[in-house]
Amino acid sequence: MFRAEEFPSLLVGLEVSDDAAVYKINDEIAVIQTLDFFPPVVDDPYDYGAIAAANAMSDVYAMGGEAVLALNICGFPPDLPSEIVAEILRGGAEKVAEAGGILAGGHTLDDKEPKYGLAVMGFVHPDRVLTKAGARPGDALVLTKPLGVGIITTALKGGVADPGHVEAAVESMKKLNRLAARLMQRVGVNACTDITGFALLGHAQEVAEKSGVRIRFYLEKLPFLEGAKGYAENWLFPGGSCRNQEHYAPHVHFASDIPEDMQMLLYTPETSGGLLIAVPFEKLEELTNLFAADGQEHWTIGEVMEGEGIEVV
Ligand code: CO
Ligand code: CO
Ligand code: CO
Repeated sequence: MFRAEEFPSLLVGLEVSDDAAVYKINDEIAVIQTLDFFPPVVDDPYDYGAIAAANAMSDVYAMGGEAVLALNICGFPPDLPSEIVAEILRGGAEKVAEAGGILAGGHTLDDKEPKYGLAVMGFVHPDRVLTKAGARPGDALVLTKPLGVGIITTALKGGVADPGHVEAAVESMKKLNRLAARLMQRVGVNACTDITGFALLGHAQEVAEKSGVRIRFYLEKLPFLEGAKGYAENWLFPGGSCRNQEHYAPHVHFASDIPEDMQMLLYTPETSGGLLIAVPFEKLEELTNLFAADGQEHWTIGEVMEGEGIEVV
């Protein structure tokens, strides 16, 4: 077992639920290192590449950094048409370019099911690293993308999704968390994470645990993509919803009037979701004003309290 004292330059990285590893180079620069890749979540190869890239870079933004350098991680079936491979790679490359980063190669192996993603290196000032451990009682919680892409892409796989719902989910997943990260760093916030496979409740519980606080969400303030609630009513949940519920339910308390499908929706994995930001209450208005001025969508969805676990009211 490695001990943190043995690696004084490693600022973040030896705990399971950290978004990325952070390594201090000197007093001005720390390197953020992360990787993520997954099978196709949508039909269009270009969109798949762009989503996988946005998702991989998101952990850099969750730590408050900028993506600098990326490498492709590819597993493709040998018989996958080369035009499709080219479209996936173009989607990833254009997303990295949009982020101001450099895509500098990668590695491909044969795989029955396609997989694509990035290894990403980012920079952050060592004194400005944001983790899940900094939330304080009294902080407001701000979310920067709506919820629901996970259940919409599951409905898509099941062949029952409305094309309009899918289109909005794809746009949301392709969107970079870069602007939100920059603006929150300008204001100065206490903690941040991004909402991905462990869903809103799982990632929030990681914040609650690491920060030693209780988190309260207000159901009526939670933003959902159009269609998500309907698919939940029809119980079109992916397997990940159940796994997340089994794992996190002991820490979550729901108000008695919240129906089971809504509870399950909050346990449903997201892909390339938004940032969940804990901001001191006195800076909330400054942050939301900056977001509004720059066209960054955002919702204030809850608050941090003394205690432990999560409550949804
Ligand atoms: Co993350
Ligand atoms: Co990740
Ligand atoms: Co190689």
